[in-house]
Amino acid sequence: MDILITGGAGFVGSNLAIYLQKMADNITVVDDLSKGVYKNLEGFEGDVVVADISKENMDWEHYLDFEPDYIFHQASNTDTTYPDDKEMLRSNIESFRNILEFAINSQAKVIYASSAGVYGKGTIPMSENSQRDPKNAYAFSKYIMENMARKYTENYDLECVGLRYFNVYGPRESFKGKAASMIYQLALQMKELKRPRIFEFGEQFRDQIYIKDVVEANIEAMEAPSGVYNVATGKPTSFNKIVEVLNKVLGTNLEPDYIKNPYTQFYQDQTLADVSLAASKMGFVAKYDIESGIEDYMRWLGFV
Ligand SMILES: NC(=O)c1ccc[n+]([C@@H]2O[C@H](COP(=O)([O-])OP(=O)(O)OC[C@H]3O[C@@H](n4cnc5c(N)ncnc54)[C@H](O)[C@@H]3O)[C@@H](O)[C@H]2O)c1
Repeated sequence: MDILITGGAGFVGSNLAIYLQKMADNITVVDDLSKGVYKNLEGFEGDVVVADISKENMDWEHYLDFEPDYIFHQASNTDTTYPDDKEMLRSNIESFRNILEFAINSQAKVIYASSAGVYGKGTIPMSENSQRDPKNAYAFSKYIMENMARKYTENYDLECVGLRYFNVYGPRESFKGKAASMIYQLALQMKELKRPRIFEFGEQFRDQIYIKDVVEANIEAMEAPSGVYNVATGKPTSFNKIVEVLNKVLGTNLEPDYIKNPYTQFYQDQTLADVSLAASKMGFVAKYDIESGIEDYMRWLGFV
């Protein structure tokens, strides 16, 4: 089996690369290292191509000496507060167009990362046929990618599976700094015995999914029919609950320090996925709940 992973030095991509190398004959990661770091790929035995895949006329043959069976497309500008909308859209959309064109030529199945951001502030539970209402350029780029995937699937006999990740947390995200998961940020603060800072009054909730489950969803997607699927637990976790679980796992007893939320315009106060389609069509059910996910993660970080 021959595999190409885009964005493979990033958070999700590197976890996928390390996992999938066991199953692959050939495996190549491509990343422009605009955000990702080589350190995420320690222990990776495959090839690494450093290139910007949003550029026109990407010469895949120059970089690869195989035609992939699967392309896991994780590369993206993932900064939801990025100030240049035009560049955000250009980069994310044109990268995907290049991947889809390459997949037609190589007959690869494409498994690509979309986002719960496409639901905007939509009603919960969010199911795949709920109305999409992207609230920023990042989410809009994912919305357009889903449209493109549908069109390419219909017109070119391409197999294409989109995964709408909800909030992902886990190993190999620390390089993201302020853009790393809330669970990571709070763990850092609490490890230093600082009160965890969360938006007033911590009742907001998100569907938090552990990275090992996200990797598993990508594996299940290899056999899944074309379409778009939620990748989530189907369970809500309030911000206060995260603090409670971290206190338990870290052995601390720190009260939240509530701060005002400056991002009210596009902030998703609540996300919760309907996970029934992913279960029935992909056979994907998250194994980690918030307690076991945080515990596994804190151990990996060496915090417990
Ligand atoms: N982490 C989450 O909670 C989450 C939630 C929903 C969706 N997603 C999606 O999942 C995917 C992976 O997310 P992540 O958290 O690993 O992000 P990340 O920022 O850690 O990784 C993205 C990687 O893509 C690379 N990249 C960006 N533009 C590129 C380009 N033009 N050419 C080549 N490489 C490029 C970056 O250097 C980075 O290593 C993304 O598509 C993201 O939108 C992530």
